Amino acid sequence: MTSSNDLSKLEADLLSEIAGAADLSAIEAVRVSALGKKGRVSELMSRLGSLPPEERKGFGQTVNTLKSKVADALDARKAVLEDAALDARLKTERADVTLPVRLGAELEGRIHPVSQVLDEVIEIFADMGFAVAEGPDIETDAMNFDKLNIPAEHPARQDHDTFYFSPKPDGTRLLLRTHTSPVQIRTMSNQKPPIRIIAPGRVYRCDSDQTHTPMFHQIEGLVIDESTHMGHLKWVLQEFCKAFFEVDEVKMRFRASHFPFTEPSMEVDVGAEAIGKPGKWLEILGCGMVHPNVLRNCGLDPEKYQGFAFGVGLDRLAMLKYGIPDLRPFFGGDLRWLRHYGFGVLDVPTLGGGISG
Ligand code: PHE
Repeated sequence: MTSSNDLSKLEADLLSEIAGAADLSAIEAVRVSALGKKGRVSELMSRLGSLPPEERKGFGQTVNTLKSKVADALDARKAVLEDAALDARLKTERADVTLPVRLGAELEGRIHPVSQVLDEVIEIFADMGFAVAEGPDIETDAMNFDKLNIPAEHPARQDHDTFYFSPKPDGTRLLLRTHTSPVQIRTMSNQKPPIRIIAPGRVYRCDSDQTHTPMFHQIEGLVIDESTHMGHLKWVLQEFCKAFFEVDEVKMRFRASHFPFTEPSMEVDVGAEAIGKPGKWLEILGCGMVHPNVLRNCGLDPEKYQGFAFGVGLDRLAMLKYGIPDLRPFFGGDLRWLRHYGFGVLDVPTLGGGISG
């Protein structure tokens, strides 16, 4: 089958088969039978070697032309059939975009309790006019300690079980911040009062048991103005606790304590009836009036400005509010834990809609 008559007949046959292919699998069958390894057009090519040399060139060209004609016709028909298939699908598969999100999709992912509680806390403080500030996890001694009125050799440095990096040639060492309080320094050094911020973030201490992990989360609060006093501090914390635990009244106890960066300093306990354990007190945060030395270290005049700061353990809040007994699995990455304690993606906390979604 090498005469030009035979070739025209093959071409006519193939083109009519292509035109007659009713669907994508039929067109694929034609393609294989024409251009596949053992296809009718490919076979012609393999005969090339047996032809007398003077005929080879002309024959080769003719077969190549046939080949590309057939390939073009296949492509064109395939495009038409694909369009038709898509049209048919669109006619039968209608997407009603007004339907609610399918439950399955909503359950696919869960929001981690720390993320959820962070959103809750931000929502509550944002409503009281606080902005969100941030600082780096890797800090200097100066930011984490010195400027917060914790000089070298101060016993508070030992309490913090700090993770240090290797010393640099000049002897200074970077560290993983042990609390979010360095963000107080960064904020006061970079902006003029009035200041009203919360600073959530990761903090690190070399410590591990049921209620301590080497990495955990805190939220720092800082308010600096000309006449801010302890009454404001107590009111802000009380409003926060009421909103957070979703109760009208919350019993709070301010216990005298000591932090080098606040004077006076207090630790705050809440009456555990807020979470259904009457008669018990739970410590949730440390706070106090910002120490004049700290204000001075940030270039603020303590004769003019004063204010308060507080530091809350975020993971602690999540454990208390949602009855999670052990801190360690918070960071274990176990999906079963997350499915149990996690939140739906649509449970966005808002003051209007109920803070826990
Ligand atoms: N930084 C303190 C801690 O980690 C908490 C704190 C913050 C206390 C601000 C007072 C004021 O323990």
